[in-house]
Amino acid sequence: MNTVDQGKGPAVLLIHAFPLNHAMWEPQFACLTPHFRVIAPDIRGFGPSQPASPWTMEEMADDLNVLLDRFGVTTCAVVGVSMGGYIALPFWSRYPQRVRQLVLANTRARADNETEKAARNEMIAAIQANGAAILPDRMLPRLLAPNAPPDVVTLVRKMIEGVDSAGATYAVMAMRDRMDFSTAVQRIQCPTMVVSGENDVIIRLEDSRALADSIPGARYVQVPDSGHLSNLENPAAFNRVLLEFLRP
Ligand code: MLT
Repeated sequence: MNTVDQGKGPAVLLIHAFPLNHAMWEPQFACLTPHFRVIAPDIRGFGPSQPASPWTMEEMADDLNVLLDRFGVTTCAVVGVSMGGYIALPFWSRYPQRVRQLVLANTRARADNETEKAARNEMIAAIQANGAAILPDRMLPRLLAPNAPPDVVTLVRKMIEGVDSAGATYAVMAMRDRMDFSTAVQRIQCPTMVVSGENDVIIRLEDSRALADSIPGARYVQVPDSGHLSNLENPAAFNRVLLEFLRP
């Protein structure tokens, strides 16, 4: 795994969204590294040197477990945005003793419904027919609010343009086939924060609120002026709530 490992202190594992890479955490590095050891991998098939191969959310959780062993990290706060949250949940389920705190941002616990699965199949077919070049125009209007800062649009476009067709296809398959965690999350015992984006069109506010309500004691925070990528679109607000949560 191609991984950023910066800072000293309790570990924080940052898991990126689809179809991005560790660079989506750029606005968090400076705020976290004075207090924490920040570990931000590119998951399989994403980032500069990641060979693509099919994977499931559970296998990705196992990859992260191996990564933490390799880095000598016993426990960490796990922060996942969107697909990162889909991976964070099986990671918590398989390795609860490793998870000190959990941040589930712009994500959901339930599996895809039939309509969503059909949309995933349509996207897989489109990537197979035309390559990953279709992704920026399809994804940008869904990932970012219409008023997202231009430098954020440029950064996200650049990450998406770097995506390889096989990596994107396998990730969409893994999202389509992911397990339902909507009942399991009721057993989460570590401190948890659910973050939503005020203008997120992929994860509706009601879904984020319902996720927070189903996790015992979870904190719920809505990031204003942001779409699906709340950590990038409003980093000041995101970083404030993240630090408040991680450093109670
Ligand atoms: C993501 O941002 O990781 C994905 O768009 C989530 C999804 O498609 O369900």
